Amino acid sequence: MKQNTKETMTKLSVNINKIATLRNARGGNFPNIVEFAEDIQSYGSQGITIHPRPDERHIRYQDARDLKPIITTEFNIEGNPIHKFIDLVLFVKPHQVTLVPDSVDAITSNSGWDTIKNQDFLKEVISEFKRNKIRTSIFIDTDAKLIEAAAKAGADRVELYTEEFATQYSLGNRKAVKPYTDSAKLAHELGLGVNAGHDLSLDNILFFSQKVPFLDEVSIGHALITESLYFGLENVINQYLYKLSLK
Ligand code: PXP
Repeated sequence: MKQNTKETMTKLSVNINKIATLRNARGGNFPNIVEFAEDIQSYGSQGITIHPRPDERHIRYQDARDLKPIITTEFNIEGNPIHKFIDLVLFVKPHQVTLVPDSVDAITSNSGWDTIKNQDFLKEVISEFKRNKIRTSIFIDTDAKLIEAAAKAGADRVELYTEEFATQYSLGNRKAVKPYTDSAKLAHELGLGVNAGHDLSLDNILFFSQKVPFLDEVSIGHALITESLYFGLENVINQYLYKLSLK
């Protein structure tokens, strides 16, 4: 199979929110977020993504501060730009901030920005991040008018919201990638970089990345951590059985 060169390859940024969910379930510091991020980078991931939410139910604001010194790849912080979030991002100064219009009670991000309605707000927030040399990306649906308005607001990139693609792909509908192909082309014409994320997985990532041009980066969390559990399970069970056999 033909492989991409380093220059044309889409970067993988691993979203580590699920690791924090696991840690928080027991109240201690195991698994350790910082060590996990270090290992993920050592395994070749080109970025670490976190999505702190106001209720800090998985990644906490302190995690963002703790992670900053150990990031050797690209640090991407996503979230709704409320005051507390903006202050955090300006303090941590990650390489990229991804603006997501998620409501406080949303289980996960469930829509892209209306960049027309929120044009003035986004312009203001983006210019503040730009002054601080932080790249900005806007989480967005595959709508040409919204992508044009993202460019107008001064964003550096858009992150295409891929849930609909992933759902349709799992149902066998390969044509569902077309709006993403078109959106990526338009974004590129407008001078925007192209990221993508939500429900991307080992099942759909090859097809998606082959069909969507100019794809700079994908951020993947839920499926990647689930797949890691699955592919690691046999090995870990065998290690337990081995240790128990030694007594
Ligand atoms: N991009 C954004 C804006 C998100 O909110 C999320 C989920 O936190 C992702 C990407 C990653 O989605 P998933 O966990 O389904 O890979």
